[in-house]
Amino acid sequence: MNDHILSVQNITKKVRGRVLLDSISFVIEKGTICGLLGPNGSGKTTLIRLLTGLIRPNNGDIYINENSIVTNRKQVVMNIGAIVESPIFFPYMSGKENLRNLARLHPQLTVTEQKDRVEEVLQIVNLEDRAKDKVGTYSLGMKQRLGIAQALLGKPSFLILDEPVNGLDPMGIRDLRELILRLNQKYGITVLISSHLLDELQKVCSQIIVIREGKMLWSGHKDELARSNQSLEDAFVELVSR
Ligand SMILES: Nc1ncnc2c1ncn2[C@@H]1O[C@H](COP(=O)(O)OP(=O)(O)OP(=O)(O)O)[C@@H](O)[C@H]1O
Ligand SMILES: [Mg+2]
Repeated sequence: MNDHILSVQNITKKVRGRVLLDSISFVIEKGTICGLLGPNGSGKTTLIRLLTGLIRPNNGDIYINENSIVTNRKQVVMNIGAIVESPIFFPYMSGKENLRNLARLHPQLTVTEQKDRVEEVLQIVNLEDRAKDKVGTYSLGMKQRLGIAQALLGKPSFLILDEPVNGLDPMGIRDLRELILRLNQKYGITVLISSHLLDELQKVCSQIIVIREGKMLWSGHKDELARSNQSLEDAFVELVSR
């Protein structure tokens, strides 16, 4: 047994001869919030699609709770919650109706348990008040929180969020940040968040992984990224412009 919830080992992904990810390896410890940082087009979404079993690597393996996603995809994917790009909901249905529909994808829950879980996740993401309104009337921040509610339905121990703050206003960003911290601290969920914004990751993450052009540039504790007299931003710019 080790304390890693995720272990990525030498992952390579090629599409039509083009290398999108080149021998990526890193681990994430249980109970942490980890940031996946990289400029546009660096391969963040591709990596997250691999981690959530949406696509398969050409080489290497991914272990979540010590189970290989390559050989054991179905079982592994059941233990993770994720938002990859924007979550899609029916705008003419309420938030609660959307979640009730999606809860049916969790056959391990009885119908009563599904209903209870929907109420719980609505409460966790602070959407109870607007649960009966149509999703079409929600702000982007509310839709993003509904996306997280959906990802939480199966009680995952690991949550993966691809660019969750994209397009949100400062208030929406703050709400989301507080939610992510709460999920980690109160519910013990390990979180991986991708972003091209160092600032945002710095506020919530303890560990940071930096990729560029499909290659791993850096991985470690956030405090180790910058030299003592250097801001995190300068350290990042230095790293990606090497
Ligand atoms: N199916 C595909 N076929 C060919 N190229 C692809 C495919 N998917 C992604 N790419 C390319 O791989 C590179 C990485 O894309 P990816 O979407 O993973 O980057 P990203 O870091 O998520 O970028 P962004 O910050 O813009 O979301 C890009 O150059 C993209 O065009
Ligand atoms: Mg992306």
